[in-house]
Amino acid sequence: PKVVVLMGGPSAEREVSLATGKGCGEALRSEGFDVVELDAGRDLVARLDEIRPDVVFNALHGRWGEDGCVQGMLEWLGLPYTHSGVLASALAMDKQRSKEVYRAAGLPVVESVLARREDVSARHVMAPPYVVKPYNEGSSVGVYIVHEAANGPPQLAEDMPDVVMVETYAPGRELTTTVMGGEAGDPGALGVTDIVTDGWYDYHAKYSEGGSRHVVPADLPAEIYDTCLEYALRAHRALGCRGVTRTDFRWDEARGLDGLVLLETNTQPGMTPTSLANEQAETRGISFGALCRWMVEDASC
Ligand code: DAL
Ligand code: MG
Repeated sequence: PKVVVLMGGPSAEREVSLATGKGCGEALRSEGFDVVELDAGRDLVARLDEIRPDVVFNALHGRWGEDGCVQGMLEWLGLPYTHSGVLASALAMDKQRSKEVYRAAGLPVVESVLARREDVSARHVMAPPYVVKPYNEGSSVGVYIVHEAANGPPQLAEDMPDVVMVETYAPGRELTTTVMGGEAGDPGALGVTDIVTDGWYDYHAKYSEGGSRHVVPADLPAEIYDTCLEYALRAHRALGCRGVTRTDFRWDEARGLDGLVLLETNTQPGMTPTSLANEQAETRGISFGALCRWMVEDASC
């Protein structure tokens, strides 16, 4: 079968997507697929018409590629694609609205509000410590952490969106769980990784070799480990996700199970050499090639 690997695009996570796409393209080629790697530009529809793939492997991250836009276009064209559909992608990408879904599913999340950029720069819109982030980007692009009131409100860069999310800072360990499908017979939740960094898990720590240390499977009390698996699967199902997702958590050890909160579900998790989803799959005996193959076979529209 012919597979187009869609990558790059105009989002803030373009470089990450190129790395994900390149790796997945190579893996699919080794698996025997006829692969065309395609940088998603304005001529995307015309290019897909020309190439006529059987499946589109969506390796895009961030806006347009992860938020339901590209998914809607592929539905319109009738091309089966990997990962989640339009609604689940749009919901998961909106860090504020997805919380309403998580709450309804009984999943623990921290308080947050949407606020105008100039208000956030002018005063503390909530009591520190808090985090300011775009509500619709990934990879920690544009994240500000305010630890103390005395430091004053953060001066947000001009290229931040007009409306941003302000969220209570959740302290503790950074945990993550990858889900492969959510139906009976699917592999389900693959495990828990504990991400150990010197500072916090920012863009550099995420994508530099040695930028962070991943303990997988994480060394955690069984109750916490199993709850991460359960929450990730519940979040995946509550949002209506498909294929592979990765759900991120913070765990404040001192507070036991009450200290575990769900930060977000990523519907297009990174699959770069330093990424977590493929690493978790490896520990379960699922090679990178097998993971990519499963995703192509799971594709639909
Ligand atoms: N947003 C990046 C790609 C991730 O979640 O892995
Ligand atoms: Mg994310």
